Amino acid sequence: MITKVLSGDVAIKEGATLIKSGEVVAFPTETVYGLGGNALAPNSIAKIYQAKGRPSDNPLIVHVSCVEDIYPLVREFSDVNRMLADTFMPGALTLLFPRSEQVPIEVTAGLDTVGIRIPSCAIARKFIAACGVPIAAPSANASTRVSPTTAAHVLEDMDGRIPLIIDGGESEVGIESTVLDLTCDIPTILRPGAITAEMLAGVLGEVKTHKGEVISSAPSPGMKYKHYATTVPMVIAANMQSLLAEYDRAKSQGLDVAALIRSQDACMMDGRKYIELGKTDMEVCKNIYSIMRDAEKSTQHIVCIHLGDEGICRSVMNRLNKSAGGKIV
Ligand code: TXA
Ligand code: MG
Repeated sequence: MITKVLSGDVAIKEGATLIKSGEVVAFPTETVYGLGGNALAPNSIAKIYQAKGRPSDNPLIVHVSCVEDIYPLVREFSDVNRMLADTFMPGALTLLFPRSEQVPIEVTAGLDTVGIRIPSCAIARKFIAACGVPIAAPSANASTRVSPTTAAHVLEDMDGRIPLIIDGGESEVGIESTVLDLTCDIPTILRPGAITAEMLAGVLGEVKTHKGEVISSAPSPGMKYKHYATTVPMVIAANMQSLLAEYDRAKSQGLDVAALIRSQDACMMDGRKYIELGKTDMEVCKNIYSIMRDAEKSTQHIVCIHLGDEGICRSVMNRLNKSAGGKIV
């Protein structure tokens, strides 16, 4: 199969036609690129799992272009959902609802809940609206790989596997949406993302973050899989001192090393090779996946600075800890 990369209205038109004929299409969102298919058609869902090489017990998020399009997909839309939708939709928040009969179990991997999100990216919403059906979409990377934030990243993983990538430039946010479970007693973040616990607590009062230690009973099935893996080993350094020590240790073993650091710390590198993640937390978040994909191509060992546990950095660290398999020096 030839994978086309198109942009603009032509891309949206061709993408919608492909979706209506049961195909899968990669499209941009503000978080990361998604690999979309008709959420109401089990055959399209099967194609998504196949193209990604994704285990079929890991459910997909359903994307719609407006709040009204959520109603037919859910059995209940509570006042709390209304409040969250008013504040964070469109945006990088995925809400779990009790699923209605309309949602095939292939989408939810047999679960009774369905995750739904309205992207804020205008191209994404235009594409979904043109399709005329809800769009099930995981991140458009090959399973276990780093999520894509450009059309070029998607092409790296999906060339020859899907007919079309809609190119909408670089994703603004850079990491995936926050997945929030409201079907339990206390609202629980199953996957931290761009909408932080602090932002949600501002609306909900109390919010828990699922720690995800208990792998066998992970409530968000995606949490138990290897994720965001670079093709070369990566470790997290607790501070700049240990980053420099790890760099020198790997270097003395003859490895070509890349240090991923905040721009402000470049002055401490003293002739060592480094990649600047950015100055602000938002910049770091936007750049992180792209830089990981670059670093794995040009080096044999990656050491990345710990970004801290506040706000969006906590969400970025959730991904980086998985990439590093929990390895901190
Ligand atoms: O930002 C995003 O969310 C991106 C873009 C494309 O929208 N999508 C994305 O999808 O990251 P994916 O499939 O890579 O990650 C979805 C996560 C997985 O960890 C999955 O287990 C969880 O959401 N999830 C989906 N539906 C769920 C459900 N009903 N119950 C619990 N977890 C669910
Ligand atoms: Mg993913």
